[in-house]
Amino acid sequence: MQFAYGARIIGVGAGLPSSIVTNEDLTKLVDTSDEWIKTRTGISARRIVKDHETATGLAIEAAKDALAFAGIGGDTIDLVIVATSTPDNLYPSTACQVQAAIGAHRAPSFDMEAACTGIVYAISVGQQFIGSGTYKRVLVVGVDIHSRFLDWEDRNTCILFGDGAGAFILEQTEKNDNEMLATYLQADGNGAHLLWIPNTGTQYPHAGVEPPKTVQRHLQMNGRAIYEFAVNAVPEAVRQATEAAGISVDDIDYMVPHQANIRIIRAAADRLGLSEDQIITNVEEMGNTSAASIPIALWQAISRGEVKIPSMLCLVGFGGGLTWGSAVVRWTAVDQRLSQSRKETAGATAGAGSVD
Ligand code: COA
Repeated sequence: MQFAYGARIIGVGAGLPSSIVTNEDLTKLVDTSDEWIKTRTGISARRIVKDHETATGLAIEAAKDALAFAGIGGDTIDLVIVATSTPDNLYPSTACQVQAAIGAHRAPSFDMEAACTGIVYAISVGQQFIGSGTYKRVLVVGVDIHSRFLDWEDRNTCILFGDGAGAFILEQTEKNDNEMLATYLQADGNGAHLLWIPNTGTQYPHAGVEPPKTVQRHLQMNGRAIYEFAVNAVPEAVRQATEAAGISVDDIDYMVPHQANIRIIRAAADRLGLSEDQIITNVEEMGNTSAASIPIALWQAISRGEVKIPSMLCLVGFGGGLTWGSAVVRWTAVDQRLSQSRKETAGATAGAGSVD
């Protein structure tokens, strides 16, 4: 796909609930153990919202964090896209509320849904608008609060998910400075029944039908089938995007996968010939935060100084729908708060020895 303009990512941010729920905590709710959960998933803990916390609130926090990372104001954003499967309300969209909170006065705003792959779909949509020359700066947020749609008595599912929001800021560049080298999106609705949350849309309540006493509106999953799907989808998506970018898998410095399960991530990395230190993961601390997991994982790795700059990243998502997709991105963004504080420190040091 040829675009008139290039794009790059200039900011990444996160919004996390403060409450940490450990595997040990979950043993009080279901028949499980820290050992089982760690061995099968790699998860030790996850963040879970308190009653007063909302998807919109987390999305706004992530957006503000990404703006601060990029060192820009919300009023410079031209378009807001929020990827979520668990919005606070059917409407207004989460994106409209983020737009108001960050003061992006002139930005059209909308939500989109591609389950856990939502953030990859959203950056691809953002790239199209930038590449065509329609918008110069696009804020993309992924947010999900799965904890409100989990059966806390079902050990098969409640151990897997955490809540959170993550954000990216995309900016237009000249064509020869393009850093978003390729995206790849896929879907297969034949697998829709493998991962879904029933009775959460207009299918229930049916008009004129007496509602049953208890309505099942918890996440349903065929874990084995999703596992099989994911270990094939991730390598395929990485190969497709690298090929479209005109590079080889060997040129990838880091894979930033959707954080669902460390076994899925390692099996996929193995098939691709990627080593452990090329995988960016925080599933141990966060669990599966759905559409938010890729930016949260990258944000955390960058905050810890674990990502060399510049580097070649492959972001790769998979999830309900079924959906999967990837993006090859040359990462050059530096947290502007850090460069600012370095400048201040350098100034203070220079000033300390100087004589007025
Ligand atoms: N604690 C203890 N035992 C548990 C358990 C838990 N939290 N959850 C399930 N079990 C039990 C089951 O009841 C079952 O017992 P049974 O054999 O007596 O019926 C057994 O463990 C299941 O074992 P197995 O099928 O071998 O588990 P697994 O290795 O497939 O791991 C998942 C299960 C869910 C961790 C794994 O299939 C998975 O990660 N799938 C992908 C899920 C995912 O990522 N979803 C989101 C995608 S976006």
